[in-house]
Amino acid sequence: MNVIIAKNYDELSRQAAQLVAQKIKNNPKLVLGLATGSTPVGLYQGLIELFKQKKIDFQKITTFNLDEYVGLAPDHPQSYHFFMQKNLFDHVNVPKERVFIPNGQAPDLEKECISYEQNIQKQGGIDIQILGIGRDGHIGFNEPGSSIDSRTRVVSLDVMTVNDNARFFQQDISLVPKQAVTMGIATILAAKECLLLANGAHKADIILQTLYGPITESIPASFLQKHENLTVILDKEAAGKLSENLKSRGIRYEDYSQKTGGGPLG
Ligand code: F6R
Repeated sequence: MNVIIAKNYDELSRQAAQLVAQKIKNNPKLVLGLATGSTPVGLYQGLIELFKQKKIDFQKITTFNLDEYVGLAPDHPQSYHFFMQKNLFDHVNVPKERVFIPNGQAPDLEKECISYEQNIQKQGGIDIQILGIGRDGHIGFNEPGSSIDSRTRVVSLDVMTVNDNARFFQQDISLVPKQAVTMGIATILAAKECLLLANGAHKADIILQTLYGPITESIPASFLQKHENLTVILDKEAAGKLSENLKSRGIRYEDYSQKTGGGPLG
C-alpha cells in the first residue's frame, strides 16, 4: 500500500491525474476502471487538461465503469452514463465502442452482469481501477455485507447511500434509485492496480477503518488491504485520523499536505 497525502482536493486531483496519465503513456492500450461520484471529478478534469495539451491520447484505451443505477436511462442527468459523458467522454477521444458501463436498463440484468464480467476478461482484465469510497465503506456499490467473492451483480443500496445521493435528486429520497448494478469486490480486487481517492473530513473515519481496521464485510473497502498494488491519495482532511497509524505501523506514505506544489509526480 502506498499512501499519498495531498494538501487539498486540487492537489489530490492533480496527483491522481498525473498517475493515470503516466499509466496511459506507458501503455496506450490501458484498460482503465472508472468511478463516478464527486471525488474523481477533479481527476477527470486533470486528464482532460492533459489531453488538450496533447500530453495523453485516449484513442486506444478501454474503459469499464464500476456501476450504474438500475432503471435510469443513459440520458438521465443522474445516470452514471450521463455523468461520464459530461465529466470525461465529451472532452477526450476514447472511442465509443471501447467505453463500457453496466446497462441498468437491460431487460435481463443477470445476463447483463455475466456479460460485463466476461467482457472485462475478454479485454485482458482491468489495469488500474479508480475508486472513491462511501462513508459506510462501500466501493462501487458494494455495500456492507458484500463478500470478497462477489462479482458484478444487482444490489440494493444502503439507507446511508440513498440519503447521501439524495442531494443529486432534489433532496427527494423517493427519486433516488434503490438498486444498482455494480462490479463485485472480487472484480475490483482482480484489477492489476487500484487507486483509491478520498477527500474531506467526512471521509476521515472510514479511511482509518478501511486502511488499518480489521478486514471485514462490514467495511467492504477494507478488502483493499489485500490488494498487492494499492495506491491511496487523500487530502489532509480525509487523512486526518491516519498520521499516528501510518507512523506506528511502518506503512510507506508520503505527506505533501504542508508543501506547496511538489508531490511524487512533480
Ligand atoms: C461511484 C462509486 C461510489 C462512490 C462513492 C463515493 O461510481 O462507485 O462507490 O465512489 O459513493 O462518492 P463521492 O465521491 O460522491 O463521495
